[in-house]
Amino acid sequence: MTPPSATSPSTSTSTSTEPAVNQPEPPSPSAPPALRMVDVRKVYGSGDGEVVALDHAALEVARDEIVALVGPSGSGKTTLCSIAGGLLHATEGVVEVDGRDITHLSPSELTDFRRSSVGFVFQTVNLVPFLTARENLLVVNELGGRRNRNGSRARARAEQLLDELGLADRAGNLPSQLSGGQRQRVAIGRALMNDPALVLFDEPTSALDSKLGDQVVHLIREEMKARGTSAIIVTHDDRITHYADRTVHIEDGRIQA
Ligand SMILES: Nc1ncnc2c1ncn2[C@@H]1O[C@H](COP(=O)(O)OP(=O)(O)OP(=O)(O)O)[C@@H](O)[C@H]1O
Ligand SMILES: [Mg+2]
Repeated sequence: MTPPSATSPSTSTSTSTEPAVNQPEPPSPSAPPALRMVDVRKVYGSGDGEVVALDHAALEVARDEIVALVGPSGSGKTTLCSIAGGLLHATEGVVEVDGRDITHLSPSELTDFRRSSVGFVFQTVNLVPFLTARENLLVVNELGGRRNRNGSRARARAEQLLDELGLADRAGNLPSQLSGGQRQRVAIGRALMNDPALVLFDEPTSALDSKLGDQVVHLIREEMKARGTSAIIVTHDDRITHYADRTVHIEDGRIQA
């Protein structure tokens, strides 16, 4: 079976025929990249236990660009995503997201940054178990952030995302009442609630079988392109790289040219 072309999405799980509400603005020529990492080094531990996880890594992700990040286990992929998303500080180097230098932000500034500017989707989906699919999206708005909406706008946004992700009829289900692929789609919706500039996907399909994995990545591409949102997708799966605009290889903490 030939994988669906990355440039011509043919199927959609969306049940809506309406155009997306958030039409992306065409990037202006002077718009900063979604991510710019310059000479980033990350060292864990110290002394004999020192591990160099990233070594002078440089990566730029343009607006609206989807980058697949591929590399062996332990090569620094999760570390790179954690630094790009403000979960970890780099030991050295500069990190800019959407034109903002986050290198030296304080812990509380980083918390605000994460709420407003980035989205995360991890391998193991961390949905709140006692909240429904809909409530798992709405909780993002309640945490606040730069673009937080009033209640009715947030609910409209959540309904729109659930619809686009093919979850409209599952919105009232708890995570335990959803399939693995459906849970992963809720996590994608949650990552998109605050219109982040950059979404970081760390092996979003590794818990799914290959058919479902394909569907989820297809959906990720559609959602990103409809909004002009940038993404890094960490994956071991070569087929998934077909959905990216560009594949970047990392080995021993070094981005391969
Ligand atoms: N908190 C930590 N303390 C010490 N070393 C760490 C820590 N987190 C990661 N490392 C080390 O840093 C290196 C990079 O780890 P990272 O998790 O970024 O790799 P990865 O490419 O995501 O691997 P995988 O494909 O297995 O998820 C590894 O050698 C790992 O053992
Ligand atoms: Mg990892």
